[in-house]
Amino acid sequence: TTTTTQAADNADLPGFPGTRSARCPFDPPAEYADWRDAEGLQRVLWHGNPVWLVSRFADIRAALSDPRISADPRSPGFPVSPMNAAGENTSSAFPRMDDPEHARLRRMLTGDFTVRRVNQLRPHIQELVNGFLDEMISKGQPADLVTEYALPIPSMVISLLLGVPYADHEFFQQHSAVLIGRNSTAEEKSAASMALSRYLFDLVASKEREPADDIISRQVHERVLTGEISRQTAVVNAMGLLIAGHETTANMIALGTLTLLENPGQLGRIRDTDNPALVANAVEELLRYLTIPQDVVARVATEDITIGGQLIRAGEGLMMNLTAGNRDERFFDQPGTFDIDASTRGHLAFGYGTHQCLGQSLARAELQIALPALLRRLPGLRLAIPMEQVNFRHDMTVYGVHELPVAW
Ligand code: HEM
Repeated sequence: TTTTTQAADNADLPGFPGTRSARCPFDPPAEYADWRDAEGLQRVLWHGNPVWLVSRFADIRAALSDPRISADPRSPGFPVSPMNAAGENTSSAFPRMDDPEHARLRRMLTGDFTVRRVNQLRPHIQELVNGFLDEMISKGQPADLVTEYALPIPSMVISLLLGVPYADHEFFQQHSAVLIGRNSTAEEKSAASMALSRYLFDLVASKEREPADDIISRQVHERVLTGEISRQTAVVNAMGLLIAGHETTANMIALGTLTLLENPGQLGRIRDTDNPALVANAVEELLRYLTIPQDVVARVATEDITIGGQLIRAGEGLMMNLTAGNRDERFFDQPGTFDIDASTRGHLAFGYGTHQCLGQSLARAELQIALPALLRRLPGLRLAIPMEQVNFRHDMTVYGVHELPVAW
């Protein structure tokens, strides 16, 4: 029958994401270059779904600015992963909606993540970062940079912005760790999600009575009480923000540090410069060169469309291969070279189009503060294990390292 033929055909498809090689753990899997050069789009298997993989820079931009491509898992044919399947029975959040509803909800939060807002926060982020460094140093070496530094920074910053009391911080972190953890079962994830949403419901209620200067208070008083959104939506937004910025930023801090340790000349320049523009460009280059969101941007076609010369039928799934797009020599000069002076304008690490990362200014600030602070405070920083023993997150949606033992 047709279905068995299709199943057999699909079994032959290459899997996505591929595995970065042990020899070049910062480079994309070798097959991505072939897929980017091939005519049309590559058909791959993603969590059991056959999807069209978009690997060229220009095609990714075209796809992500096409209104006939949907980010809503309820659209017919949307490729389902264990991640979005777990979220099926919770109400969806704006990152998983299409315009105009997506835009309506997102607009209510953009004011909290502008460059200006984030710049006002910088001194506070710097203080937090210094505190985590003190703590890590006082515990002694070797230390795991992931648990002692890379993870606490984004997690603390987002709780601060949302207005989560410091006393509840551990509860908060523990449940979000389960939600994003690879070893948690579906039951554990749904229990963690329930606990967090109950907690956030209570927080919403308490900020309704006693507002403070934070995102949840503003959502409640400016949006919920005016009837623009429900309490449920305020909770879903808060939970989404809590999780969205965690893993990505943490992995950029840890993997970014490792990249610099492997490139000591460029590390030295970042450590010694007093030029914020150089640090900022180095961070953009790390974002481009590493492009850690491996299979984050999933979509479905709602009409027949052509992307990169490939006809895509309505109801067929697509995946954006940002990692390949950011190494596309049709757009970047020498994309295979890590060069903190290179022009990175237009890189795709934060996605593109209407869903482009809401937290990008915040992520940039955290990286621009965390990386130089670490290098300056610990000029003797080094990997405490051989490079071959580093445990890379090959199988994760967001690439990086599971642990990073360091000494100084
Ligand atoms: C969206 C990457 C940090 C919040 C995205 C997307 C990417 C991305 C690729 C697009 C998803 C899509 O189109 O389907 C990153 C990277 C980060 C980072 C690489 C760190 C280096 C953050 C932070 C926050 C955040 C700190 C916290 C506030 C969001 C939200 C969206 C998003 C809310 C959905 C936007 C929308 O759908 O309109 N991010 N992100 N991200 N990100 Fe980030």
